[in-house]
Amino acid sequence: MASLAPTLSSTISRLTNLHKPSFHSAMTTLKNFQFQHKLSKPTRPFLSTSPGSLSAQMKSTLGSDDDLVVLGIETSCDDTAAAVVRSNGEILSQVVSSQADLLAQYGGVAPKMAEEAHSQVIDQVVQEALDKAKLSESDLSAVAVTIGPGLSLCLRVGVQKARKLAGTYALPIVGVHHMEAHALVARLVHRELQFPFLALLISGGHNLLVLARDLGNYIQLGTTIDDAIGEAYDKTAKWLGLDMRKSGGPAVEELAREGDADSIKFKVPMKQHKDCNFSYAGLKTQVRLAIESGNINPGIPVSSATSEDRKARANIAASFQRVAVLHLEEKCERAIEWASKIEPSIKCLVVSGGVASNQYVRAQLNQIVEKNCLQLVCPPPKLCTDNGVMVAWTGIEHFRMGRFDPPPPAGEPEDAVLDLRPRWPLGEEYAEGRSEARSMRRARIHPSLTSLIQASMQQQS
Ligand code: KG4
Ligand code: ZN
Repeated sequence: MASLAPTLSSTISRLTNLHKPSFHSAMTTLKNFQFQHKLSKPTRPFLSTSPGSLSAQMKSTLGSDDDLVVLGIETSCDDTAAAVVRSNGEILSQVVSSQADLLAQYGGVAPKMAEEAHSQVIDQVVQEALDKAKLSESDLSAVAVTIGPGLSLCLRVGVQKARKLAGTYALPIVGVHHMEAHALVARLVHRELQFPFLALLISGGHNLLVLARDLGNYIQLGTTIDDAIGEAYDKTAKWLGLDMRKSGGPAVEELAREGDADSIKFKVPMKQHKDCNFSYAGLKTQVRLAIESGNINPGIPVSSATSEDRKARANIAASFQRVAVLHLEEKCERAIEWASKIEPSIKCLVVSGGVASNQYVRAQLNQIVEKNCLQLVCPPPKLCTDNGVMVAWTGIEHFRMGRFDPPPPAGEPEDAVLDLRPRWPLGEEYAEGRSEARSMRRARIHPSLTSLIQASMQQQS
């Protein structure tokens, strides 16, 4: 590994201290960064503060009427995305290059191929985001990039690009938690959305119910013990011979409209578990068995199927969707109960992540929140699936609080060891909600985002 000055590489030096709080390093290196920036970019408002009062002053200068412009980069899974967002919530540009063709070909994400696909387009995607925003790199206030959770090989492409850019233009860098970004983008769309709120985050790899108490402060009420709902949608689509080019979820949603949702009585998962956790592996198996016993040949695309065959597939899609979403409904009802006890002032359920773009999911969850006198907040579909806007916005939210790393050194070696967090919990588990069924997924690599931030705040006080 190349030798790097510790004060300029907290993201990198963190790797050797994985169990130490990381965000504190951003604050301790701020003075250094401030000094550097003062020399190179004297116009940035927060940089002219006196070192002693930096933290407090930054918060006031960057509070509500700041004017930040942040580039967000996202490569944690199969979409290469970048966007430029202003701190007043204006989206200046948004570019997504999806690997839908690869997904259609392999029926899932193959990490090595996904990495190559990201590498091929990352420069172009970032450039296009800047061009569309009519800005150059030197107009940016910071670069935000997803550092986890996700596929290491894929995360690396985005982080390398972000660090190269930040190093060249002496920009601060904000490491973003992908799932936090899915939740916080709701605050960009609904500017009045305040903490605390409950969030259901549903994607290809995650199924999370979290109580968002404050920025960077999350209690995990539930997660999946095996697969996420998006994975179940994707496999169902593949086994039903659907066109995966727009990913599996939308294809199942579309076909389900033609089917009878009560035709097949799939079992609702985890009925006996009085917690907020999820399981979709069993439902996947039930779907596979139904497909096998219905003599459906996934090799024959649904577009070429006979009308009888198409109807049989539509019935499976609809029945699967009904039960998959019923599982969400049941766990959300319990989570609302728990969250209201912890934070009686919650008013909203935020639903985000790729699966939240599904209209049936939204309609069913809306009934649940209305019954409980809450409000449903769903970002528009384009901001539910992976995108750079959510990363840029989360970067803005943390940057305002002084949570960022100073610019990496220009010309950082390509083989520098990076701080990537493929398995990175968002918050600590709600102790009373711990389930026996969770035990198999306890192994973790990184302390949660919430615990890191809390540790850094304690150090500062
Ligand atoms: O959040 P996302 O874009 O990427 C991950 O972080 O995983 O979520 C992708 C997942 C995929 O499983 C995809 O099939 C699913 O979201 N998805 C949908 C819909 N649109 C995307 N699932 C159901 N209905 C949809 N309309
Ligand atoms: Zn996602």
